[in-house]
Amino acid sequence: MKAMKLFQRSILATAAVMAVAAHAGEVEVLHWWTSGGEAKAAAALKATLQAKGHTWKDFAVAGGGGDNAMTVLKSRVVSGNAPAAAQIKGPALQEWAAEGVLANIDDVAKAEKWDAVLPPVVANVMKYKGNYIAAPVNVHRVNWLWASNAAFKKAGAKVPTNWDEFFVAAEALKKAGIIPVAHGGQNWQDFTTFESVALGVGGAEFYKKAFVQLDQATLNGATMTKALETFKKVKTYTDKNAPGRDWNLATAMVIKGEAGMQLMGDWAKGEFAAAGKMPGKDYTCAAAPGTAKSFTFNVDSFAMFKLKDAANIQAQKDLAAAIMSTDFQEVFNLNKGSIPVRLNMNLAKFDDCAKLSSNDFVASGKSGSLVPSIVHQMAVPPAVTGAIQDAVSQFWNDDKMSAKDAQAKIASAAKIR
Ligand code: BGC
Repeated sequence: MKAMKLFQRSILATAAVMAVAAHAGEVEVLHWWTSGGEAKAAAALKATLQAKGHTWKDFAVAGGGGDNAMTVLKSRVVSGNAPAAAQIKGPALQEWAAEGVLANIDDVAKAEKWDAVLPPVVANVMKYKGNYIAAPVNVHRVNWLWASNAAFKKAGAKVPTNWDEFFVAAEALKKAGIIPVAHGGQNWQDFTTFESVALGVGGAEFYKKAFVQLDQATLNGATMTKALETFKKVKTYTDKNAPGRDWNLATAMVIKGEAGMQLMGDWAKGEFAAAGKMPGKDYTCAAAPGTAKSFTFNVDSFAMFKLKDAANIQAQKDLAAAIMSTDFQEVFNLNKGSIPVRLNMNLAKFDDCAKLSSNDFVASGKSGSLVPSIVHQMAVPPAVTGAIQDAVSQFWNDDKMSAKDAQAKIASAAKIR
């Protein structure tokens, strides 16, 4: 009797393994999540896929902001060897879809009711000609200021809420022997800083005219000059080792209290979390100066490429479904520093920064001050973003260039379409 039962059990177990194996596929996933917090979030994605019996083939290309990853992706697709899924965002999704290389994942989206659980502003970007071609993972807020509580205490400074207060705090930190602003001199980081400065100086309406509509009068106007001058003043509070520094190393300076502040999106929070630091106790998350009522959004998403192998197509669909599941959205975003993109999720396990982000996302959506991050590829096509980004960094790096000259360069870069 006992032997019989054991025999039956082993047959059942073998059948189960075979069932999984019959459908098991491989998904090669291109991403640029290589810092401490990012890698933990990527590991959650890998574990989710593996739990479905599939194989994860990692295609990580280091480089914050993803510029390197996009270059590598282009060469892979051109050589006819696209990965199954790639981290592609914003208007670039439309460009890739127009090339005819992306898969239609509407069957997954319909079965999982994506239209009902995604904010329309996000769902529209994930669709090409009405069909889903990508799955969103999160909502990052870009207009954040991260402050070291120890550094601010030592300097007797107050976390700033506008740009005048920012420079008062920066002076106090400097006097206390602390590097006021942790910065990494890479083009995308320069532009991340500039984007927040411009939003704080000019407000959401100015931002939309300048960086979404690319309105020439606004780009050439007085508010833009003021934004550029303020941006350049920030540089005077960075250290001489900033050029080339990776963003997560800049965050580490704030984590250690060597620097007072960093202007960076909330993937920085993933670094604080990975280092065991608590918001409120060890550090403060505050909206970038002057931007408390606005929200620059940056949604990470995975575009799905057309595949031939049936098992791999199934694995790709399982990945898309898993990405949007409530379990994954929770564990991934807890590590990543972002908030779930899925609406109406329970945020009980999330910290105060995430709760603030979630409230401000909804409130800014209602008041018209929810704006797409230009530097993080949400606002305009990649070629335009790249041209403006180069002009912004030229200005940041060249101490002889005037704000007016920089402004003319940015305005002419905006004409590249
Ligand atoms: C991405 C984030 C990433 C950050 C730094 C941003 O463009 O949206 O997911 O953590 O770059 O690499």
